[in-house]
Amino acid sequence: MSNAISLAKEAAGRTAAQFIESGMLVGLGTGTTTHCFIEALGKRCQEGLRIQALASSERSATLAREQKIPLLQTDQVTYLDITVDGADQIDPQKRMIKGGGGALLREKILASISKEMVVIVDSSKVVEQFGSFPLPVEMVTFAYQATIKKLNALGYTGKLREKGGIPYVSDNGNYIFDISLPKPCLTPEKENQQIRAIPGVVETGFFFGLAGRVLIGFPDGRVEIRS
Ligand code: 5RP
Repeated sequence: MSNAISLAKEAAGRTAAQFIESGMLVGLGTGTTTHCFIEALGKRCQEGLRIQALASSERSATLAREQKIPLLQTDQVTYLDITVDGADQIDPQKRMIKGGGGALLREKILASISKEMVVIVDSSKVVEQFGSFPLPVEMVTFAYQATIKKLNALGYTGKLREKGGIPYVSDNGNYIFDISLPKPCLTPEKENQQIRAIPGVVETGFFFGLAGRVLIGFPDGRVEIRS
């Protein structure tokens, strides 16, 4: 990652940490931008901010523990006040593709139970149309080749995500299949519906109607906030 992008991510993450107020239940997304947010939030907790958090991945939970951010038991949570998370792409209607970091299912659960999902991105993530970033699709491992065959039959080709030469397994014990979208992808809702209708598919990385404020970071430290 270039230094300019890192600075932009830090700016977005730092700004989002200022949105958090004592007493809030906070959802923690996953990824490098969220990493910056969790570090900034950790500093605020060490200075006296009193919150409880729920992490969308084991990675974010580990970082939160290191930062002394109190974590909720997952079986205690029914709602969150705010979730802060990154995105792989976001379009002018605040539709997103997420899951590049493999945490899409838990991220979507957190976003859906939050009063607001605050999205933090560097400016390279803002796109006019989808198509250039593959759509992550989480699927159960049971008969996954049959699920992929059904996707192929609908015209969706892609690649099973791997890590270290073996299939990547999500925190939920599932595989991720990264689909090449049509370029441009003009009907993401239709694609989402078709893909989700296949038994074996657990969730897609399309996030619709979930983003609240969007914080776009720039390398000079500036942050644009879109409501
Ligand atoms: C993880 C995600 C991330 O939010 C997304 O991949 C963006 O990551 P980064 O902040 O590292 O660019 O959806 O599943």
